[in-house]
Amino acid sequence: MRTLVVGATGFVGRRLVDALLERGHDVVAFSRHASTEPFPDEVEPFEGDLEDPDSLTGLCADVDVAYYLVHSLTDDDFAERDRRYASRFRDLATAAGVDRVIYLSGISGDGVDLSEHLASRREVESLLAGGSYDLTVLRAAVIIGAGSASFQILEDLSERLPVMVVPEWVRTPCQPIAIGDAVTYLVELLDADETRGETYDIGGPTVWSYESLLRLTASEKGKTIYIVPVPVMTPELSSHWLRLTTEVAYPVARALAESMRNPVTVREDADLQRVIPIDRTSIDAAVRTALAAEDG
Ligand SMILES: NC(=O)c1ccc[n+]([C@@H]2O[C@H](COP(=O)([O-])OP(=O)(O)OC[C@H]3O[C@@H](n4cnc5c(N)ncnc54)[C@H](OP(=O)(O)O)[C@@H]3O)[C@@H](O)[C@H]2O)c1
Repeated sequence: MRTLVVGATGFVGRRLVDALLERGHDVVAFSRHASTEPFPDEVEPFEGDLEDPDSLTGLCADVDVAYYLVHSLTDDDFAERDRRYASRFRDLATAAGVDRVIYLSGISGDGVDLSEHLASRREVESLLAGGSYDLTVLRAAVIIGAGSASFQILEDLSERLPVMVVPEWVRTPCQPIAIGDAVTYLVELLDADETRGETYDIGGPTVWSYESLLRLTASEKGKTIYIVPVPVMTPELSSHWLRLTTEVAYPVARALAESMRNPVTVREDADLQRVIPIDRTSIDAAVRTALAAEDG
């Protein structure tokens, strides 16, 4: 199968490219820096910018399945950019006759009172749904792995603050997933025709809170942390607090922090595990693997 990974140099994209190659698929790897990425020789890099329509000519030629893994959280106007990019990609894929598009989005439950970031993920879902291909949407909460912005925030916090006065959102339930499991689901979709046109949540085997994830990450690093939630900390204040404690680019950290007030757990009736059962990795093991990869 000829596959296209849009966002192939990102945290998820790089690993997906390798997994698709291992399964014997042809891979076109697209991003603004695709030509300088050390992909395996079999990969066909395609460098371009979703901001620049001229750079996209031929992107979807002869593509059977495209994975859409782009977001613009590094920019203040990310929602506007992501709207523009998704619409542009939808039109290109439709014109080229792409058969299937798979989008990795964020878990957003019943869609009520969403943060700007999660609302934008939902909007991209609806825009992509307007194409003539079959769309499958997978929604994930925090994906645990080396190089994930959301995991990096947890790691930086647990590393730098032995005593944390933190926003109340540390108690919000979340259901993270190991990067290996997310990639397995993305690849397995190709053999599951019944998933065409559907939307699923994906997550690890257990529900956590940001507080318990912080404690786990700290203990895997041999540290003890003390967490004191403060109900009155505003989103504004909590994002400034993140500016002081994480290396993740401030606009990304701010958007992700604002999303931490929304519970992000897998809806039982929408769990992809019911359709594609895989042997899911425990989050303890996923955190250990991510930290070891960063040290290595
Ligand atoms: N990481 C998580 O914990 C997590 C959790 C839930 C859902 N997701 C979703 O999973 C998807 C992938 O996330 P990720 O963590 O892999 O993101 P990432 O590491 O930031 O990767 C984003 C990719 O998009 C490319 N890109 C950005 N702007 C572009 C543009 N204008 N034109 C072309 N390419 C562009 C980037 O490459 P260049 O910079 O080279 O252009 C990069 O390859 C996103 O939709 C995200 O919302 C992620």
